Amino acid sequence: DRSLRIAPSILAADFAAFGAECRAVEDAGADWVHVDVMDGHFVPNITFGPQMCAAIRPHVRGVMDVHLMIAPVDPYIEAFAAAGADIITAHLEAGPHIHRTLQAIRATGKKAGLAINPGTDIAPVAEVLDLLDLVCVMTVNPGFGGQSFIASQLDKIARLRALIGDRPIHIEVDGGITPDTAPRAAAAGADVLVAGSAVFRGGPQAYGTNIRAIRTAA
Ligand code: DX5
Ligand code: ZN
Repeated sequence: DRSLRIAPSILAADFAAFGAECRAVEDAGADWVHVDVMDGHFVPNITFGPQMCAAIRPHVRGVMDVHLMIAPVDPYIEAFAAAGADIITAHLEAGPHIHRTLQAIRATGKKAGLAINPGTDIAPVAEVLDLLDLVCVMTVNPGFGGQSFIASQLDKIARLRALIGDRPIHIEVDGGITPDTAPRAAAAGADVLVAGSAVFRGGPQAYGTNIRAIRTAA
């Protein structure tokens, strides 16, 4: 199903109230909840780990989409699966054995995602298509919310769409998504739009308006 999905990133939520924030964005029309895990090593910022994901899980009715910006990643896959992730996404750049990492994610019974940084080519994606449920094209350099969309990635999204063809693999775009950039990403072939600051700005009473603005524009 390639219908458009909006996945608010709780990186932009109130860290002291993740449970309420997850419920609020789902009530406001979010399709998935996107959870950004950062280790201060693969990316220059630290968020939280599997214990926080497990704490959030009961507050997410739908899909919990866990984006691991950590290296190494393999030692933690089972912990994030046990924490209740529905999709576990690892970075191509996080280690030399992405095929093994994707196999390990699939072995937990969870859906497997592969994230690629702005400076990374899509060629390796072709070698692991049979292990993929999602490819996440980073449209910012990972580590922080609120950065500007890197427009050069639109051509990459289009090439990825051609590579994936009719396979049931989502193309997710992550970073700098707003009502301005969402339609460009969707036109290039993305079907899951992650948005942090553009959803959470203005507080809970604005979430519905913010999500609708992105969906309508796209
Ligand atoms: C960046 C994260 C993104 C980020 C998106 O490292 O992976 O999910 O939170 O935030 P915005 O939408 O503010 O760019
Ligand atoms: Zn993310």
